Amino acid sequence: MQLRIPGPTPLPDAVREALGRQMINHRGPEFAELIGRVTARLKTFFQTTNDLILLTASGTGALEAAIVNTLSPGDRILAVSVGVFGDRFAEIARAYGAEVVPLSFTPGKAADPEAVLRMLKTSGPFRAVLVTHNETSTGVTNDLEAIARVVRETESLLIVDGISSVGSIDLKTDAWGCDLVLAGSQKGWMVPPGLAMVSISPRAWDAYKLARMPRFYWDLGKARASLERGQTPATPAVSILFALDVALGLMEREGMSNIFARHHRCAERTRRGVKDLGLDLFADEAHASDTVTAVKIPDDLDVSQLLQVLRSEGVVLAGGQGPLAGKMFRIGHLGWINESDVDEILAALSRALPRARRAPITR
Ligand SMILES: Cc1ncc(COP(=O)(O)O)c(C=O)c1O
Repeated sequence: MQLRIPGPTPLPDAVREALGRQMINHRGPEFAELIGRVTARLKTFFQTTNDLILLTASGTGALEAAIVNTLSPGDRILAVSVGVFGDRFAEIARAYGAEVVPLSFTPGKAADPEAVLRMLKTSGPFRAVLVTHNETSTGVTNDLEAIARVVRETESLLIVDGISSVGSIDLKTDAWGCDLVLAGSQKGWMVPPGLAMVSISPRAWDAYKLARMPRFYWDLGKARASLERGQTPATPAVSILFALDVALGLMEREGMSNIFARHHRCAERTRRGVKDLGLDLFADEAHASDTVTAVKIPDDLDVSQLLQVLRSEGVVLAGGQGPLAGKMFRIGHLGWINESDVDEILAALSRALPRARRAPITR
């Protein structure tokens, strides 16, 4: 089976075995050692020496935690969006009473750092800037380094959704000056859904002290205090931590730059293969993602039929999300994947395409 949606992603055998381990006391020394070790190893992949907190949640929990721990109702924030997940981030901030100034770009295009700079200059100051590093709904990777550079010229907090990038695509949290970076276990980490990760800079902790949005489960200060004792405020997803510990070992063995290079090779191979089949990429190729490829659906192709035929052949791909449904399909190439997997996906796609062509309309 080739599960190639942009998360959850396939699990290596060693990770699956870890999931079957007997439970341990989450208030005991074994757990303290586990969470300490996992947190330290994650910091390497986040490229940060900042605090890092694990939450029992999906990625959206990390987005919500970032907002409620740093902002107050009425705070003006700039929400840079290039798709569904950028819009979701803005929606969360709005739900908690932030005054959201949207800066949206056409789906398929990347955010323009110059446009971000103009907004910062003409409509600021903003308490925070929200940005998605890798927009999973369109297969676009924003130039976060350039965006961070312009944000860092201001006092705004830079809050980054790195859910489908951290650990798979280079994201230099500290070197680029990202205040909060968010990730989710079911993406490039080769682990099931259930854990979210948040890195928090000293500047973000200063904001935490002033933040007045309501928070309880997502209180990162409480989580940091618990972590100092090797615990979490509530019961954690212990099994996912077992799995993440093993997966991080695999990732360390491969090495971060090799992981990034493998993702790039698989993405390039996917893009080339899709174009060779006569299909067009949805994303502007200059900013195409190394973790997910979105493919345009031509008029003569029935996308649900295509996905069904592929599924019957053991290849599971994703459709479009929200307003993009019916306009594309997406291939996830993150986590446990290599070039031969890509070749299998492309071969299945090539066989499935003729079976998903709509019959020509006859008069
Ligand atoms: C970029 C991005 N942001 C946010 C999310 C939401 O994460 P979750 O579905 O784990 O809550 C996803 C999940 O696909 C994502 O890819």
